[in-house]
Amino acid sequence: MATQRTTAAELASRKAKGERLACLTCYDYPMARLLDQAGIDLILVGDSVGNTVLGYESTLPVTLDEVLHHAKAVVRGTSRAHVCLDLPFMSFQLSPRDALASAGRAVKEAGVQSVKIEGGRRLIGVVSTIVDAGIPVLGHLGYLPQSANVLARRKLEDSAAVRDALLADGTALQEAGCYAVVLELVPPSLAAEVTAALQIPTIGIGSGPHCDGQILVLYDMLGLGAGKGFRHVKQYAALDEIIGGAAGAYVDDVRRGAFPPSEGAGS
Ligand code: KIV
Repeated sequence: MATQRTTAAELASRKAKGERLACLTCYDYPMARLLDQAGIDLILVGDSVGNTVLGYESTLPVTLDEVLHHAKAVVRGTSRAHVCLDLPFMSFQLSPRDALASAGRAVKEAGVQSVKIEGGRRLIGVVSTIVDAGIPVLGHLGYLPQSANVLARRKLEDSAAVRDALLADGTALQEAGCYAVVLELVPPSLAAEVTAALQIPTIGIGSGPHCDGQILVLYDMLGLGAGKGFRHVKQYAALDEIIGGAAGAYVDDVRRGAFPPSEGAGS
């Protein structure tokens, strides 16, 4: 029997059962296969592909075509995990109609099961238009990398005004039909309040332990292209050292004629 993909509705229902969501970003086929086999609930093909894989300085230059290309590979590498495509800067801001066209391409061309959108109340029309067309939407509040040029700092203040805005945004996204919401760099006490107030799951990144799930950028937790030293990241591997070491050993072997081995010395 074919394995069933995890649906958005199933992810949303885990909150009531007290089951935490384990989520990671991913951008390619071999990594996606490993994450799928490891039991990841949700894979986000994040616009963080811009910084992590494509060498951009921010997520702003990332295009819809670029994330679609990566999302296709991730979908091909998975059979069970829910795959969500991050709609990049300027692929959803112009109008609900443009946003729906972008979300439609994500489902039709890449085969993802949902899309993510950065922003709160001002995007309610966009969210409900996409959800009404049958495409699940993951919200994203707190630090919004696509708005970095107008934000004073990354970390949100722990204040009553920020709390009220987060609660209003979270409630509006829930009412518009989001199945869950990412909370990025939200002070843990505020993330706990938002989590308690919403029926849909919150998925934290740098927002403390009280969210209903957690997400990390894959390369940060694997120590690949690391060195950014974000305090919220737990590094589970040191791939920079492993890959750098392997590449160095290969260069060395080739230069000194140790690879390939001489004929008759085995394959
Ligand atoms: O693009 C991304 O990696 C994200 C995560 C930080 C949630 O949006």
